[in-house]
Amino acid sequence: MNDPTDPASDDTARTAAREPLDREREPTLYEWAGGYPALLAMTTIFYTRHVPDDPLIGPLFADMLPDHPERVAAWLSEVFGGPKLYSERYGGYRRMVSQHVGKKITPEQRARWASLMAASADEAGLPTDPEFRAAFVAYIEWGSRIAVENSQVDAVPPPHMPVPRWWWVCDATPGARISALQQEEERSVPAPPLPGEGEAVGFAEHIRPLFRQVDRNSMRFAFDLWSRDDVEKHGTAILHRLRAGTMPCDGAWPAERVALFARWLEAGAPE
Ligand code: HEM
Repeated sequence: MNDPTDPASDDTARTAAREPLDREREPTLYEWAGGYPALLAMTTIFYTRHVPDDPLIGPLFADMLPDHPERVAAWLSEVFGGPKLYSERYGGYRRMVSQHVGKKITPEQRARWASLMAASADEAGLPTDPEFRAAFVAYIEWGSRIAVENSQVDAVPPPHMPVPRWWWVCDATPGARISALQQEEERSVPAPPLPGEGEAVGFAEHIRPLFRQVDRNSMRFAFDLWSRDDVEKHGTAILHRLRAGTMPCDGAWPAERVALFARWLEAGAPE
């Protein structure tokens, strides 16, 4: 049995954060954030470093349970598409809502809560890319405003709501765009040396140069495009996406590059 106060024993969450991903889908926010350990680092910073001495929200949490950071990290894990830790361990939606009822949270307290959570995300080293933070802050804004509603004296929160499952906003997903900070040479791929008819195709010489840094970064959550073994292992799926023109996401490869990749795979993916 897992001890929920000990993240080191949290096998479910740890395994889920490390599990190989389905190559054809986007990562969950939970995976991108770094799983339960990263979210727990954030909530621990929030409730131990920021909350206790904060004059606006400190008093609200004066009697919180010792495992409150674990509870909120479990809630966020579940909301961000990870394992259903809060529902399994702590009581799900009903418990969460019951903890806000009657607290009469003010707009000022909410704003402080949200800004300190964003600061804690920075301090815990959560990803800072625009896509992740847009989704993260959207949830924090949405959820905290609902917490304010539910906490008013005349509030009647709906009793049986599912725990939300949050997602990237407006198709702003990892790898969905080229960063303005990418070096010019990384935006375009110079024509690779095309091996002649009958000449051997090698990964280092012909295939690896086809993948830019941005391609590598956008797939890094799943595998490494600069690793021959990874590219071989996922070669069929990669070829499928190249042929469909859905990879790279900022523009399809010319036909001769797709053909070169297919030729390399057919040759047994040599070094
Ligand atoms: C996205 C926004 C929020 C999330 C995800 C969240 C999450 C949670 C969760 C999961 C609990 C229940 C923990 C348990 O099982 O005991 C909880 C309790 C609580 N929350 Fe929130 N919360 C949010 C916003 C807020 C805001 C804006 C405030 C006030 C400024 C607040 C104040 C509290 C308080 C006072 C408790 C009870 C603490 C205790 O005495 O045990 N929450 N919250």
